[in-house]
Amino acid sequence: MRHLLSTADLSRAEAIGILDTAETMAQTQSRQIKKLPALRGLTVVNLFFEDSTRTRISFEAAAKRLSADVINFSAKGSSVSKGESLKDTAMTLQAMGADAVVIRHGASGAPHRLARAGWIDAPVLNAGDGAHQHPTQALLDAFTMRRRLLGGQPRGADLAGRRVVIVGDVLHSRVARSNVDLLHTLGAQVLLVAPPTLLPVGVRAWPCQVTFDLDAAIADFEPDAIMTLRVQRERMSSAGGGFFPSPMEYARRYGLDATRVNALPEHAIIMHPGPMNRGLEISAAAADSPRSTIVEQVTGGVAVRMAVLYLLLAGADPSVQTEVSLEES
Ligand code: NCD
Repeated sequence: MRHLLSTADLSRAEAIGILDTAETMAQTQSRQIKKLPALRGLTVVNLFFEDSTRTRISFEAAAKRLSADVINFSAKGSSVSKGESLKDTAMTLQAMGADAVVIRHGASGAPHRLARAGWIDAPVLNAGDGAHQHPTQALLDAFTMRRRLLGGQPRGADLAGRRVVIVGDVLHSRVARSNVDLLHTLGAQVLLVAPPTLLPVGVRAWPCQVTFDLDAAIADFEPDAIMTLRVQRERMSSAGGGFFPSPMEYARRYGLDATRVNALPEHAIIMHPGPMNRGLEISAAAADSPRSTIVEQVTGGVAVRMAVLYLLLAGADPSVQTEVSLEES
């Protein structure tokens, strides 16, 4: 693995390897001193062309906890055409000696272009590209599911036989795409639920089932986990963009409210990648319920990003230790 661009590129063994390494990283994060020396002297650049709170901070925390230097580059508002500005930026980063580039971009495929165009040598980590992929989000979701649904010692395990409902704005969601690919690779069954207007063309070819009816999905599919997706209003032309009649109607048909939470199997967990529209796709009762893993997902995200940075930067270089040093720096 030289870059992390899409969960579709990951084999089952690679995905489990990342999740297991994240378990090791997570163990070190309950210590008072969370910093490890593994990536000392290396520079990680966070290149964000789109807004982000948790993903950017999470990558920054992950790199710093591995003792890497971090440069945050927020490119929002750049007026240069996308292809050119990406190339120029990449060549600048290369000239400055970036050892890894974490990129979030509004255009699907931008991280692939960065990785494959030959402008830079560094590994590229996709932190979200358009409506395409967000691999570390899917990995942290799988990390959380493994811990919550398998309990105890999830090392080496996949999610075979587990059932996951993903409900909401699938059309604009890189989280949904990344999760469908990864969960399929890990042996889980996925059911997507959305109004027809918020499903992408070609969704029937994805390795999952699709339905429009959330209540039937909960009753018949009996999910072990339900993941609610944010309604991405910034990617719609107006408030609902004609994708649904009104926010109230959307919440009534597709929102995870208290009644639907009560209809879930007793052990089912409630997930959301954040940021949430409380009262739209998820009610406060669901978001704040003891079954909600929303905060755990954020915590797991740091361990997963530490694992990915470690494997891409240290794992490939035989001159760098390949066992994670658990010593504090
Ligand atoms: C997601 C994203 O940006 O793709 N958020 C995240 O990374 N935690 C989902 C979203 O914005 O709805």
